[in-house]
Amino acid sequence: MPDHFVTRPLPSTLSAETLSLDAGLIVDPSTGAIAPNMSMSVNNVLMPGDGAFSADGIEDLAQLPYLYARWTNPTVRQLEQRLAALEGADDALASATGMASIAGMLFTLLKAGDHLVVSDVCYAGAVELTQRVLPDFGIEVTPVNMVRLDEVEAAVRPNTRLIHCESPVNPILRVVDLQALATLAHRHGALISVDSTFATPVATRPLAHGIDLVLHSLTKFINGHGDVLGGAVIGRRELIARIRARAGVYLGATLSAQSAWLIMRGIDTLYPRMRLVSETAMDVARFLEAHGEVERVIYPGLETHPQHTLAKRQMDVFGGMIGFQTRNPKLVAQRLSERLRVIHYAFSLGHQRSLVVLLDTEEMMASTFRLTGNQLADYRAHAGDGLFRLSIGLEAKSDILADLDQALTP
Ligand SMILES: Cc1ncc(COP(=O)(O)O)c(C=O)c1O
Repeated sequence: MPDHFVTRPLPSTLSAETLSLDAGLIVDPSTGAIAPNMSMSVNNVLMPGDGAFSADGIEDLAQLPYLYARWTNPTVRQLEQRLAALEGADDALASATGMASIAGMLFTLLKAGDHLVVSDVCYAGAVELTQRVLPDFGIEVTPVNMVRLDEVEAAVRPNTRLIHCESPVNPILRVVDLQALATLAHRHGALISVDSTFATPVATRPLAHGIDLVLHSLTKFINGHGDVLGGAVIGRRELIARIRARAGVYLGATLSAQSAWLIMRGIDTLYPRMRLVSETAMDVARFLEAHGEVERVIYPGLETHPQHTLAKRQMDVFGGMIGFQTRNPKLVAQRLSERLRVIHYAFSLGHQRSLVVLLDTEEMMASTFRLTGNQLADYRAHAGDGLFRLSIGLEAKSDILADLDQALTP
């Protein structure tokens, strides 16, 4: 790293919680400022010999001096080092959005003739990119329910380069066995990536389960305040260097210094926030289970969740996302949007304010998932005719419960 700023050496024994405050933190030697510097410069002064690129251009750009802010910027770099420490990884590449991180990883690791095995249900943008866009580039794609390990095994081919999953899965909160999937992928010489946006590193550190690359939409719980977009891919140095050299430089979806600064500010409170939303979510899930208007609740912390045993093993907290089903979901959605006073009826998740939205199964199938047969039956087993996706925020638990009760009760 360039020696322009001072990074404090940290004891190797620090917990992830402490690293979430201090990893990568740079103290500005000219002022001694402890809060991260926001570096707005597009370019930085060079020393003779700086910026000598190799012919194929895939060296680790993060190790070069700050030449040009599209591939590294001192503020974004502090965020990347903090994210790497949170996941117990060598390195990270931050991007302008979570979607840019997903696209950057896929377009770096896959080329025409390669095969991708992808979770049949995951974030809608990832489903649409993998199943509708990648085939146009000659990449073969097989969607699989990753809970069914025998079907993942059967889907793998000699040209499978990557298996991409999510846990818990957006929106149906299915939990997949990361260790088993990593073992399976590696047995076939493939890489495995997981979008861990719903879990955050507070719940699960996927690299410890053998996963090669972890992705986050930083827009969600990691920033946590609903005021900035961002994404990251995190993993081994050589993999991140490859993704930075391709996606970071050529896709150009660079995170701005302001956004990186805000996300670091959000990360400062990630651990206490995730503990609080998990605690509130557990009680809200139990309250909904007992509510006369609610037919089914899906929350990894409930004994009734289909993968509860796995969730207990793989998640340190169960997170802030709850799914629930009601009779006449469209009518109930209307009622919620008109009556809620604390919770907002809106898309997105992982903000300080609680959010809820109905994901109607028929509409989801028409617009995004297009599942049939067993895969459709598996989706319906979690979502029924429609799933209310509830993202728990930081409001008082009693206010969330009272708001849900008054809005749900006819
Ligand atoms: C699990 C998951 N991954 C990725 C994304 C995409 O993130 P962004 O909106 O930051 O591009 C989302 C957005 O909702 C998401 O829920």
